[in-house]
Amino acid sequence: MADIREVFDGDIDALVSLLGGRNRVLVRVGAALAGTEDMFVALADNRVRGTMSIRWAGGCDDGLPWLYGAEVEDGYRGRGIGTALWQVAEERCREHGATMASLDVEVANTAARRLYERLGYAVVGPHRHHWRALDPASGEIAAEGDSETWAMRKAL
Ligand SMILES: CC(C)(COP(=O)(O)OP(=O)(O)OC[C@H]1O[C@@H](n2cnc3c(N)ncnc32)[C@H](O)[C@@H]1OP(=O)(O)O)[C@@H](O)C(=O)NCCC(=O)NCCS
Repeated sequence: MADIREVFDGDIDALVSLLGGRNRVLVRVGAALAGTEDMFVALADNRVRGTMSIRWAGGCDDGLPWLYGAEVEDGYRGRGIGTALWQVAEERCREHGATMASLDVEVANTAARRLYERLGYAVVGPHRHHWRALDPASGEIAAEGDSETWAMRKAL
């Protein structure tokens, strides 16, 4: 089973290996260190094997904490690491006084949607997810686009 803890800046290289895209990692870790988001890492076999973030404001479902960016290393999937990450993130949401958590999942990602339903999330409707890739130094938008997702919620 994985240990879950808060991210720190020493995790950046491991997260780049896991997620690809150093700028994206720098923006996510930066938001967590600044306190506007929370970010957790899952450790197994002495390395970072999984991650997940919580955005407290400006997520996909206005006003609700948004759990996003979940990824578990290929080869470590299907062992409960993702489930453990969601449990820790949901506990953090409760500590913040939230009574509902939200996430969204690509329409094509039926395996992840099944997992979220098993975790207690229900589809509230279709969502057009507008994503932005930020330059970590300037904070300016480096790229952006849309993807079709399902918005999902869970009462905590
Ligand atoms: C989705 C993900 C974070 C779940 O983490 P995990 O550690 O595999 O999750 P768990 O072991 O707790 O649960 C496994 C469940 O996830 C489902 N799952 C979703 N995507 C999966 C994948 N790519 N590989 C294996 N299982 C996957 C399995 O169907 C399984 O459900 P089941 O028990 O009903 O068969 C992980 O599989 C992953 O990184 N997938 C690729 C990236 C992704 O889809 N991220 C989510 C974006 S919304």
